[in-house]
Amino acid sequence: MLKRTHMCGELRSDHVGETVVLAGWVNTYRNQGKGLIFVDLRDRDGLTQVVFDLEDASDDVVTAADGLRREDVVAIRGVVRTRVGGANPRLATGDVEVMATGIEVLNKTDTPPILPDEHDSEKIAEEKRLQYRYIDLRRPRMQEILRIRNEVTRTARSYFGEHGFLEVETPFLIKTTPEGARDFVAPSRTYPGKWYALPQSPQIFKQILMIAGCDRYVQLVRCFRDEDPRADRQAEFTQIDLEMSFVDRDDVMEMMGGFAKRAWKDVLGVDIGEIPVMSYDEAMNRYGIDRPDLRFGLELEDVSDLAAKTDFKVFTDALAKPKGTVKAMRVPGGVGKLTRKMTDGYGEFVKTFRAGGLPTVKFTDKGFETGVARFVEPIADELKTRLELEPGDLVLFTADTWEIAVTALGELRNVVARDLDLIDRDAWKLVWVVDFPMFAYDEESARWTAMHHPFTSPMPDQFDLLDSDPGACVSAGYDLVCNGSEIAGGSVRIHDRDVQSKVFGLLGIEPDEAKLKFGFLLDALRFGAPPHGGVAFGLDRLVMLLTGTENIRDVIAFPKTQTGQDLMTGAPGPVDDGQLEELHVRISLPEEACT
Ligand code: AMO
Ligand code: AMP
Repeated sequence: MLKRTHMCGELRSDHVGETVVLAGWVNTYRNQGKGLIFVDLRDRDGLTQVVFDLEDASDDVVTAADGLRREDVVAIRGVVRTRVGGANPRLATGDVEVMATGIEVLNKTDTPPILPDEHDSEKIAEEKRLQYRYIDLRRPRMQEILRIRNEVTRTARSYFGEHGFLEVETPFLIKTTPEGARDFVAPSRTYPGKWYALPQSPQIFKQILMIAGCDRYVQLVRCFRDEDPRADRQAEFTQIDLEMSFVDRDDVMEMMGGFAKRAWKDVLGVDIGEIPVMSYDEAMNRYGIDRPDLRFGLELEDVSDLAAKTDFKVFTDALAKPKGTVKAMRVPGGVGKLTRKMTDGYGEFVKTFRAGGLPTVKFTDKGFETGVARFVEPIADELKTRLELEPGDLVLFTADTWEIAVTALGELRNVVARDLDLIDRDAWKLVWVVDFPMFAYDEESARWTAMHHPFTSPMPDQFDLLDSDPGACVSAGYDLVCNGSEIAGGSVRIHDRDVQSKVFGLLGIEPDEAKLKFGFLLDALRFGAPPHGGVAFGLDRLVMLLTGTENIRDVIAFPKTQTGQDLMTGAPGPVDDGQLEELHVRISLPEEACT
């Protein structure tokens, strides 16, 4: 076999005159009929143009070259020369070409079902790309993403290594985890009727490592959550997971913030600067969401006090509710830019977030016009001042309980920004969101749920509220948000067994259930648990941001579809009866339903 001397992205003018051997895939093949065959040879490093001169070449070279097809695997020997047809500035190797003197066909391909040609990738159905992932991954863009992902994991290992973190592996076959999604489970063969769960995160194990004196733990770890995949969510995803002992909230945020800074610097050469911190209340009040996108304005204003002075029934009814609130959003220049059809659509959109509708008014040279103009007349001056209105602005209102009013308008804010193209695509806006409530009240089940997870501690001055007013209790949790995406989340943990039991109680986890599920943690907390806290970065989401894709499947080598299938291997698939028998598992579905 010809022995490779260079990669396909490597050759430059200084190599002119050298004899080289390249190996790779035939990216394109052109026989121009003038005795010359042009082949662009591709490997993960790049493309090089190879020229076969059929007059000069030996018979077997001519035969082999003439039979080449796209995606054949070949090794080619030749001499580097300056490109005869003029340089190609779009290729890193565009100054040179290789005059082939020998070729070895290493593997002929069948007609490929898809081609890794960049121009075609948009046109190929994603199902095809996933089914033939090995061809799809040959695309330069996919190779670039794999490379960037590797750069991020390498940066993580060196950054946390430098800061004294130990990488420790935690088990995949465990009992159950508390992250709030559904567990994937695996049956035990040796314990009939018993099941392992796959970890939704290593949460409990990393806390136990702190109790075990590990002090600083990190792991690049797969997590499994049986929930419906979305554009930024997979059932199987990777975290950069860490935990630290003897720390407070700021220590963990500083450590993880330092990593974010390093990742952006190493991968993109960008300095993201200091990461600002914002309270949950501020995020909700100004942006209507706990992962605010700070790349554009369109902030929400509370106008409840003004709305109270109107006799608009929608406002007054809302204000009569507990925590009744009227929020307004000024859309600069919205009068000319948003059509009636769009604002009608927004009205329907906010209803999906339980708002009753979207009262709207235009502000022009002549004052307020159309929509609810008549109703806001008594507060015209104050509203104009509060919202700093300019002629041509559109004002959108939501009126309901605080939660519905802010959430509906906050979700709409992101839509309006996209529609009006207000998002600065080159900006990196990171922010820590802190001071979350410990608990959210779930009306349906009439009980408290944990905003982070059940091991999150209240802030140091908030413990008393666990007894007196759990709804007001602020947690020591934090989320890192970038451009509107939650990329990391964590908290300082409870390290006191009694507090942990109390929180389980508030969450409606009965003592028996707590003992069954988390007894080993409650036990461990009795035997010398240091104060500790940690955080986990969503590696896939981080790589999505750094590579500029909105599809999580692009950053995972072998992802699952929206319905959780692996189209390349065909998972999930059936198992044979013998296997089921060994596992003491019986399928209760009729056979037709299993196909
Ligand atoms: P959390 O559940 O917030 O915290 O997860 C941490 C980060 O992981 C990413 N993430 C996901 N990425 C892709 N697909 C998913 N299905 C998915 N779910 C979560 C997010 C998120 O910010 N044990 C805690 C961490 C801690 O408290 O230290 C945990 O898992 O970017
Ligand atoms: P109306 O007075 O019914 O013409 O409504 C005026 C505006 O208020 C319209 O833009 C509606 O979208 C909005 N609206 C109507 N009912 C509600 C409601 N229950 N909550 C919020 N907005 C509403």
